[in-house]
Amino acid sequence: MWRGILRLSCVLSAVFLTVKADEHTHTYTTKEEVVLWMNTVGPYHNRQETYGFFSLPFCRGPKKDISHYHETLGEALQGTELEFSGLDIDFATDVPQTKYCEVEMSEDSYKAFVYAVKNHYWYQMYIDDLPIWGIVGEVDDNPEKGPDYYIWTHKKLDIGYNLNQIVDVNLTSEVKVKLEKGNKIPFTYQVNWKKSSVNFKKRFDKYLDPNFFNHRIHWFSIFNSFMMVIFLVGLVSMILMRTLRKDYARYSKDDDLDDMERDLGDEYGWKQVHGDVFRPASHPMLFSALIGSGYHMATVALAVIVLTLWGHLYTDRGSILSTSIFVYAAAAPVNGYFGGGLYSRMGGKVWIKQMLLSAFLLPFLVCGLAFFINFIAIYYHASRAIPFGTMVAVTCICLFVILPLTLVGTIVGRAIAGQPNFPCRVNAVPRPIPEKKWFMEPAVIVMLGGVLPFGSIFIEMYFIFTSFWAYKIYYVFGFMLLVFFILAIVTICVTIVCTYFLLNAEDYRWQWTSFLAAASSALYVYLYSFYYFLFKTKMYGLFQTTFYFGYMALFSIALGIMCGTMGYVGTSTFVRKIYSTVKID
Ligand SMILES: *[C@@H]1O[C@H](CO)[C@@H](O)[C@H](O)[C@H]1NC(C)=O
Repeated sequence: MWRGILRLSCVLSAVFLTVKADEHTHTYTTKEEVVLWMNTVGPYHNRQETYGFFSLPFCRGPKKDISHYHETLGEALQGTELEFSGLDIDFATDVPQTKYCEVEMSEDSYKAFVYAVKNHYWYQMYIDDLPIWGIVGEVDDNPEKGPDYYIWTHKKLDIGYNLNQIVDVNLTSEVKVKLEKGNKIPFTYQVNWKKSSVNFKKRFDKYLDPNFFNHRIHWFSIFNSFMMVIFLVGLVSMILMRTLRKDYARYSKDDDLDDMERDLGDEYGWKQVHGDVFRPASHPMLFSALIGSGYHMATVALAVIVLTLWGHLYTDRGSILSTSIFVYAAAAPVNGYFGGGLYSRMGGKVWIKQMLLSAFLLPFLVCGLAFFINFIAIYYHASRAIPFGTMVAVTCICLFVILPLTLVGTIVGRAIAGQPNFPCRVNAVPRPIPEKKWFMEPAVIVMLGGVLPFGSIFIEMYFIFTSFWAYKIYYVFGFMLLVFFILAIVTICVTIVCTYFLLNAEDYRWQWTSFLAAASSALYVYLYSFYYFLFKTKMYGLFQTTFYFGYMALFSIALGIMCGTMGYVGTSTFVRKIYSTVKID
């Protein structure tokens, strides 16, 4: 209980006082203790499925006392579980091959190790915040007696140092021992310190993979999307300018005719629905909550990308996640302002309910899904469960930070942007929607709307998925920023065209259509994740599958809400513009 509270306060203070992971200075004096932290172990083919290192029956070294370790919220959520290895390592002091402990192969340990070796388990450690990966063991196929399982027992650490700082660590696994019941397996380690000329600031570079991320395909796809943007923007402005000019000409000619001629004349097109376009969307509460959350998501995405680009956050364990949570909480007024303002403009009355829905829509989705995955994880005895203290911390942030800030945003939004100021009056009686061709139906427009935006981002999705599910560190946030802008522009252009066709078919239900047409690109992203799962990963089993598709669904939903909002916002500007220039009797 007390430990939980202590931990909670640590987590909370870590979130609010410092966004950075730890307060290590990263400088050592000779013979000063260097801590080797054991982090996680898990199958190579799913980077996200991890268990605590000592969930396998490994043994610890003899050393007991260590300096303290504080975990940040981001680390806790990502399943980082640093535990002291017990190995005695001192700065710039070589250790010859030394035995540090012994494991007795009981029935249970034997089974656990065989399972781990069979599933290509890797483990991860940290020295001075530098990650180190090592493999647990190896299978030797033996055609007669069945496979033999071996485990690596000797860890050779080569540590490079530059003056008083650690700049490079290499791990070599040596000495294979066959796993047999009843055996005693000794574990040994060895540390060699070498002077290195690597600059401390550049020490992380060896983990980055420029060949992968700066591949020609990456540049090519950015270039391609860029051309698409230019083409689309040109196309949209050209078509719309021409068509609109023609429409305006026709409408103003109509004005010169007398009433009888007008009745006989060909009155059709988007002007006909001027009395209905500004009719509130159906389900205004849900709609404004989605738009508010979309603004929120877009703000957070942009802020986190820029902060990461600027602060190289990817080198710090869990700090991107901590930063995202911090920014998400801090940006809550954005959600209230836009969601609340829109709801009020649509004439909504139960604004408190709307605000609650707006504030908790995304947190509930995320927590609900995480809870479900956690539940399956517990069922499968997987220990990547989110700790209780972390859950309480997240709940506290939702209740005591996000909610009040959303309230402030909502009140300001209702006061400043809450008055409906539409260029056309809304008729009392809704106009019937005429029959139209099948491809003008909102459902079809929605499905088609996502194709081009998806086309502009799917190569980037490949890089993002690969860095999330495989051992690559994503660091090209400049590309990501560019793709973010490209996605926004393409989405807005495409939805404007879609809405224009819809309104021309005298269908005024443009709000949901524009939102969904833009959001449907996320549906294609989700479909793409099926392809990625089948052809690019080697995951299997219910746990990994749920994990993968659960998190991908979450990602797609968030992306969908964000794109949908971009589409809606672009379109509503467009709609206001065309209806404010048309003359209405
Ligand atoms: C680690 O390995 C790399 C590549 O093999 C080598 O360039 C570097 O010098 C090694 N570092 C140490 C400290 O041995």
